[in-house]
Amino acid sequence: MMKGIVLAGGSGTRLFPLTLATSKQLLPVYDKPMVYYPLSVLMLAGIRDILIISTPSAVPVMQELLGDGSRLGLNLSYAVQREPRGVAEALLIGAGHIGHGSSALVLGDNVFHGAGLPEVLRRCRESLDGCTLFGHPVPDPQRYGVGEVDSEGTLVSIEEKPLRPRSDKAVTGLYFYDDQAVDIARGIAPSPRGELEITDVNLEYLRQGRAKMVELGRGFAWFDCGTHDSLLAAGQYVQFAEKYEGERVACLEEIALRMGFIDAEACLRLAAGMRQSDYGRRLADIACGPA
Ligand code: G1P
Repeated sequence: MMKGIVLAGGSGTRLFPLTLATSKQLLPVYDKPMVYYPLSVLMLAGIRDILIISTPSAVPVMQELLGDGSRLGLNLSYAVQREPRGVAEALLIGAGHIGHGSSALVLGDNVFHGAGLPEVLRRCRESLDGCTLFGHPVPDPQRYGVGEVDSEGTLVSIEEKPLRPRSDKAVTGLYFYDDQAVDIARGIAPSPRGELEITDVNLEYLRQGRAKMVELGRGFAWFDCGTHDSLLAAGQYVQFAEKYEGERVACLEEIALRMGFIDAEACLRLAAGMRQSDYGRRLADIACGPA
């Protein structure tokens, strides 16, 4: 079974002073904490066994927020990343959790939304051979990992924050890996900025000809909430989708219900505990409606 990892570490320096005293991934994106969004993506991929990696001060708060996951039909565990030593370190910290199987790693500040996302994720899981990355066109690719694919969707180049990007496809913070990822991560050296770059792991898969990138193009929204503007934009997007398009974005209890991780009665109980908020009231409506 594929294991999940949410990497919710880092010091969030680009969001100062918002993150001087709290973890970035606990900040609100409209009506819920940021970490709900990446967690929802793993749930939509059908993954229930999930490790949350965060800073020493944020892990206890994450635990208070999400517990052991059983109320959502999940099995959540926690680990600490002491220093922000790069995304690929998550594979080393999570080595015991991953074991000898496949894994999905998602960054704790990434928000994905779009019709058909669960089907895309399921297909990618089923056809996984090597690694699968998810690309999204952006106007400022030099801020991200940038990937270039051939007509088959096989990755032909990937560069971390290139000055002259070869495409406009940002490599988003969601990575599906086969059982080789931990070994590959163990073999990479820190980059000049002193970090274990996930791009170097992906480059090894590329060298083996086993790296794919699936484009989440038209109809998909993607945000990394790493700056004040992208954090606000993500919140405004979620507000619009929920208020005017009748969508529910990263409503974990609803997803747990829809995925069959919990039943309607359990969902209603969770809603009852939050009935003072719009979130709780909408959840109650969902739980009472046709599941
Ligand atoms: C990381 C990855 C980068 C990716 C981005 C997505 O960058 O290194 O390849 O495009 O996440 O959010 P960071 O945000 O750590 O600078």
